Amino acid sequence: MVERVKTGIAGFDELLYDGIPVRNLVLVSGGPGTGKSIFGQQFLYYGLTRGEPGVLVALEEHPAQIRRHMFNFGWDVKKYEEENSFALVDAFTGGIGEFAKRERFVMRSIDDTGEFMDVVRAAIKEVQAERVVIDSISTLYLSKPIMARSILMQLKRMLAGQGITGLLISQVGVAERGFGGPGVEHAADGIVRLDLDEYKGRLFRSIIVWKMRGTPHDMHRHPFEITDEGIVVYPEKIITWEG
Ligand SMILES: Nc1ncnc2c1ncn2[C@@H]1O[C@H](COP(=O)(O)OP(=O)(O)O)[C@@H](O)[C@H]1O
Ligand SMILES: [Mg+2]
Repeated sequence: MVERVKTGIAGFDELLYDGIPVRNLVLVSGGPGTGKSIFGQQFLYYGLTRGEPGVLVALEEHPAQIRRHMFNFGWDVKKYEEENSFALVDAFTGGIGEFAKRERFVMRSIDDTGEFMDVVRAAIKEVQAERVVIDSISTLYLSKPIMARSILMQLKRMLAGQGITGLLISQVGVAERGFGGPGVEHAADGIVRLDLDEYKGRLFRSIIVWKMRGTPHDMHRHPFEITDEGIVVYPEKIITWEG
């Protein structure tokens, strides 16, 4: 029996026969606006409600904005931050600004991989995290693509050593078919791809599980929606692109 971590994302766990195998590091890959950040936040919040502490490493949005966006979906993390089961790592502000001064975990420079690992490790230890989301790992190596695999492997060793199940959010271009580059695609334990496609002048959202070590998984592309309660996947509906 594979031990699994439920994402709590409606309809998604079914695609994996009940969740992500524990300790897997999964790339959540997609273009802009495809719902990657919401996916990660929903995964973390569900964990919190089940007593599974989590860490969100914010590289792309201000932590204050993330808390606000999560609150709007009904995911109020304040309580969990107060009881020390949730930590937001600020790898966005560089410690600059009034709001940044209130953050507990602040990264001065994301170009310093050593500091990055240390701060993430400290946050994990502080809340005894079981779930971690890095949003996004792409930001870590935008300026040094040849380092992508090495950074991912360091992250993998660090997270696996602590029994973490993690989502690594990966940005790809709007029409790009890949998942973030060969360095990361092959090293990740799983790949979930989110898409937005324009068809007859309207955008459609879809999701597909491309890879998941340790388990069989659904092989179809499914539609999903973003609602006021977050992401809802429709496992019984399949997209065939025949119109
Ligand atoms: N309350 C909401 N209801 C429906 N859709 C929403 C809501 N909030 C955000 N969205 C959608 O989510 C998108 C942003 O999702 P996000 O996870 O930030 O994307 P990504 O991280 O992939 O760039 C928005 O462009 C919008 O389409
Ligand atoms: Mg995002």
